[in-house]
Amino acid sequence: MTIKKKLFEIICLLLFLHVKMTATKVPEVRDITRIERIGAHSHIRGLGLDDALEPRQVCQGMVGQLAARRAAGIILEMIKDGHIAGRAVLIAGQPGTGKTAIAMGIAQSLGQDTPFTAIAGSEIFSLEMSKTEALSQAFRKAIGVRIKEETEIIEGEVVEIQIDRPATGTGTKVGKLTLKTTEMETIYDLGSKMIESLSKERVQAGDVITIDKATGKINKLGRSFTRARDYDAMGAQTQFVQCPEGELQKRKEVVHTVSLHEIDVINSRTQGFLALFSGDTGEIKSEVREQINAKVSEWREEGKAEIIPGVLFIDEVHMLDMECFSFLNRALESDLSPVLIMATNRGITRIRGTNYQSPHGIPIDLLDRLIIIATSPYSEKETRQILKIRYEEEDVELSEEALTVLTRIGLETSLRYAIQLISTAGVVCRKRGGTEVQVEDIKRVYSLFLDESRSSQYMKEYQDSFLFNETQAAQMDTS
Ligand SMILES: Nc1ncnc2c1ncn2[C@@H]1O[C@H](COP(=O)(O)OP(=O)(O)OP(=O)(O)O)[C@@H](O)[C@H]1O
Ligand SMILES: [Mg+2]
Repeated sequence: MTIKKKLFEIICLLLFLHVKMTATKVPEVRDITRIERIGAHSHIRGLGLDDALEPRQVCQGMVGQLAARRAAGIILEMIKDGHIAGRAVLIAGQPGTGKTAIAMGIAQSLGQDTPFTAIAGSEIFSLEMSKTEALSQAFRKAIGVRIKEETEIIEGEVVEIQIDRPATGTGTKVGKLTLKTTEMETIYDLGSKMIESLSKERVQAGDVITIDKATGKINKLGRSFTRARDYDAMGAQTQFVQCPEGELQKRKEVVHTVSLHEIDVINSRTQGFLALFSGDTGEIKSEVREQINAKVSEWREEGKAEIIPGVLFIDEVHMLDMECFSFLNRALESDLSPVLIMATNRGITRIRGTNYQSPHGIPIDLLDRLIIIATSPYSEKETRQILKIRYEEEDVELSEEALTVLTRIGLETSLRYAIQLISTAGVVCRKRGGTEVQVEDIKRVYSLFLDESRSSQYMKEYQDSFLFNETQAAQMDTS
């Protein structure tokens, strides 16, 4: 068997599994997480831009930070166009100014088909593979390959289903299915498998169905209009469709999107496609990747496949070291490269693994390749808006005065700390039997939980009574 044929077969298998999973399991899981859990960025539903890419003050869960959102909008447009590869963007700003939030906004605004991969810089060091392999995998997860496939289907209105049961009561059933379009009518022989799926789908005369010729999958499109008056007892959800026109057999184009990484994994001999589900992919040989790149560009030339550069988001990028940065430099130059978005809250600091200092802890040669978006701290009005969105998201009621106090806390300590107080104050309020969080609830949780500056203050006062205390540790290396 030639490599080409084998590769294609494996891809088809993966696609089949992929489509099956997306069709049945994945949406359910997503829905459940969306309903039950509230994450730090669950209120962000996009970048909140209008058609002219102008940011609205409050929209899609996003508040203020207009300049950065405007810039992110332009990047988003670039990504959607899909023609630009290997661009890198850095979002830089103080902690809690919405860098991660903006990246999530971009992810939400991308279509279903555009891959978005997010990793934290520190993840690279904790995986059981080399740093550059982990980065390669992340890069290739962010590149989509849209593969077009033609399948043959039979589409028609069921005229009659006739099933012959064997006289003995056991043995295989056989039968006949008559289908018609407005122009023709044909009788098909049925095997036991088809009979089973027909009865599982409860197909009856008058239904309009499609049958996938390759897989035998039956899809019920609805009931034919001509049968609309046949039965009185029909559910309200019954859908009526026209009897199909033309030939019974049709060709239909199906499009699947997989990532380059998925193709890599199923073709790496040592792991096999099951590794995709277990996440245990190991290191993938560079020859495999080269072969796949060649194959994919061949498909591209033949018009069978299309490349969709997606987005790779590396948060806390200052955690990467020299080796990773030089890998990024090179990877960005490949034409199979996604748009890279990075975020950092560091100022001028040591580049990890060296003694050199550099802005954001990123080497100058990489910085030179980046376009940088800056975020700035929020005003009082914006802080208030963000807190308001957050308490609505967390389903907590807050009185006006409590919100004012919380906003003050947000400005004087940090936005994150104020956000943390919402749910804790909600619990305190519920415990005292209240329905709306009042100023005293906020006061109570403020005294129960320390913010960063009060905590440091406390440590300074009482450090003598802590274990392993070293006064000199004040100059601790935090890079
Ligand atoms: N403009 C905004 N609109 C709505 N919510 C925001 C906005 N900016 C920040 N937030 C929310 O405030 C919290 C802190 O923001 P975020 O995590 O994005 O900060 P960050 O800049 O990534 O900080 P760090 O440097 O510490 O990683 C998050 O819950 C985020 O969703
Ligand atoms: Mg962040």
